[in-house]
Amino acid sequence: MPLNGSLGLRSTLGAALRAARARLASELLSCWRINTFFPKAQQLGFTLKALDLVSLGTKHVRNALSEELYLRTGRDVTRPAAIFAEVVERCNYKCRYCDYWRRPNYRDEMTIDEWQRALASLKEFIGAYHVEFAGGEPYIKKGFLDLLRFCRDNDIHWGVTTNGGAYLNKKIVAQTVEARPFNINISIDSTDPTIHNYSRGVENSLSEIVQGIRNVAEQRRAAGLDFPIIIKPVVHKLNFRRLPEMVDWIQQIGATALSFQPVEQGTQEVEDELWIGESEMDDLIKVRDELLRLKREGAPILNGETVLKAWPSHFRREKAPKEVMPCRVGMRNYFIRSDGRLEMCWFFKPIGNVRTQTAREIWYSEEAQARRKETVACDKLCLFTCLAQRTLQDKLKMGLTLLTNTKVA
Ligand SMILES: C[S@@+](CC[C@H](N)C(=O)[O-])C[C@H]1O[C@@H](n2cnc3c(N)ncnc32)[C@H](O)[C@@H]1O
Ligand code: SF4
Ligand code: SF4
Repeated sequence: MPLNGSLGLRSTLGAALRAARARLASELLSCWRINTFFPKAQQLGFTLKALDLVSLGTKHVRNALSEELYLRTGRDVTRPAAIFAEVVERCNYKCRYCDYWRRPNYRDEMTIDEWQRALASLKEFIGAYHVEFAGGEPYIKKGFLDLLRFCRDNDIHWGVTTNGGAYLNKKIVAQTVEARPFNINISIDSTDPTIHNYSRGVENSLSEIVQGIRNVAEQRRAAGLDFPIIIKPVVHKLNFRRLPEMVDWIQQIGATALSFQPVEQGTQEVEDELWIGESEMDDLIKVRDELLRLKREGAPILNGETVLKAWPSHFRREKAPKEVMPCRVGMRNYFIRSDGRLEMCWFFKPIGNVRTQTAREIWYSEEAQARRKETVACDKLCLFTCLAQRTLQDKLKMGLTLLTNTKVA
């Protein structure tokens, strides 16, 4: 992809602005339509959430513009737009597809003070943002709840992806809800305890997580909040046939929506017992089609249709189609590792370290410039990662799904 196209800066910006305005206008129109036709959207809180959506849309328009500018002219005014924080590598579960819990040694973790400085430095650079905490298991990081309170007090939207085990403890739940989450993602692989407990390597874990979700939902109601609780199943050979039944089930247990993630390679168990092979592909396609049908009928499934449709290609280890090139992770991803290393893509070297550098220094550093060029030119076309880079339209649709499915107290 040439970085210096023939179009001048002004016409490039002009064309991109017009396209962006048209997209935003059509999305806002959809918001209005939702308000008119979906009674739930009339409930208290809709206006505020719609405003959040508008602000999300505005930010994404700015990011989309700067990405186009970079691709066409090489001028770099990109900013971090997808922020992840791996607060810890250690874990208290033993999932069969995951290697975090079995690492022979762990990197030197940043302290909570260092995390606070890193997040504050990013805020100074890009203003308000959303950070998704994960790990390892974030709740076993000492001082994690202090970090959540820091985010609340500094206007940093936060979400967390957790195995959910900590929510059996009502004190932890109360402190989590008091820190005003933007979203809580909980990993559950099946409605069937045998499948879930086996995949996650912990006996009785499903019943404990379900009780934990009830605790979160109860506390959320008591606090008058309505953040979504999103269930994230890993899709694999042992659970895929029973995924459609999760749609009703997650709502019965007090959760809001589903976001599926096809299993990635990485452990011996994935190779030996979890990968979906050619002999099961017809069944996978049937399940996938059923999920697509449910989604079109309004089921709270957050994955975009393109990503759901790509499941067979993922398990056939095919590359992403050329049309999704160039890869955009280098223009948006800001992935802070537990020891402060900053990455844009797992397959490339870090671009700096938040322990010793400010966010702005790292983002426009020589390392970052080099990585940005490498990732834009990357033809690895890793299917899942690239397709998961949602477009503005996908993100707004996802927002609307949450908007119309979140239960308001
Ligand atoms: C690495 S975990 C960290 C957060 C937390 N410990 C949890 O399990 O939710 C983040 C997400 O990645 C998923 N995951 C782990 N290994 C995976 C794999 N090999 N393929 C796809 N998803 C995976 C987990 O189920 C979880 O939803
Ligand atoms: S709970 Fe999360 S980090 Fe821990 S082993 Fe499972 S997937 Fe990995
Ligand atoms: S195509 Fe995949 S591997 Fe290459 S930069 Fe993008 S996300 Fe990373």
